[in-house]
Amino acid sequence: MKIFLDTANIDEIRQAASLGVLDGVTTNPSLMAREDGSDYDETLKEICDIVHGPVSAEVVADDSEEMIRQGRAFAKLSEHIVVKIPLIPEGIKAVKVLSAEEIKTNVTLCFSANQGLVAAKAGATYISPFVGRLDDAGMDGMQVVADLVEIYERYAFSTQVLAASIRHPMHVVESARLGADVATMPYKIFMQLFKHPLTDVGIELFNRDWAKVVERRKAHVRR
Ligand code: E4P
Repeated sequence: MKIFLDTANIDEIRQAASLGVLDGVTTNPSLMAREDGSDYDETLKEICDIVHGPVSAEVVADDSEEMIRQGRAFAKLSEHIVVKIPLIPEGIKAVKVLSAEEIKTNVTLCFSANQGLVAAKAGATYISPFVGRLDDAGMDGMQVVADLVEIYERYAFSTQVLAASIRHPMHVVESARLGADVATMPYKIFMQLFKHPLTDVGIELFNRDWAKVVERRKAHVRR
């Protein structure tokens, strides 16, 4: 499963990329708004240069023509750009056109398997079921991931399931168990993937014991 970071923060992306296991980045207008002062296109280009993998840039429009226009402009910024398009009928129309032009798309704000089905039929590169927001609304977000993995496999759709709106590390485990192609997550959760309290306790113990070995060696040399 590929691991994407769900942020537009350059420092976070740099830190995560330096660890060598980051595959891509997803942004959205809310994440961009948190990084105030920065130029949208420049930020996207910088992210692409750091990640060298898929970077989702979201269009903001109600009609397909404007979405297509924005999508084409994003696609010119870098070969890594994936145009993120909301799952509404006009959005699906835009996906169909952009896919035919071989522009990669990530259909966002997906909350049901039927929505994911139409996105795949339009040729979306990625579908983003919003797991956390469904859970927040008292529904089972992971069920949509499971349904989409099964449906896409059954009909050999090439659309990749990108588990989004991840809220905690167990969402990542569940996404991987279900066969999601990608999970995108905030930096905090990305870092939690590396952590376990027993790893820290184990390192402390090894360091303490190794210090004893060093002391013993020193004593041996002195003798
Ligand atoms: C996906 O690409 C979205 O940017 C993101 O996962 C939304 O997550 P949120 O529900 O935490 O805003």
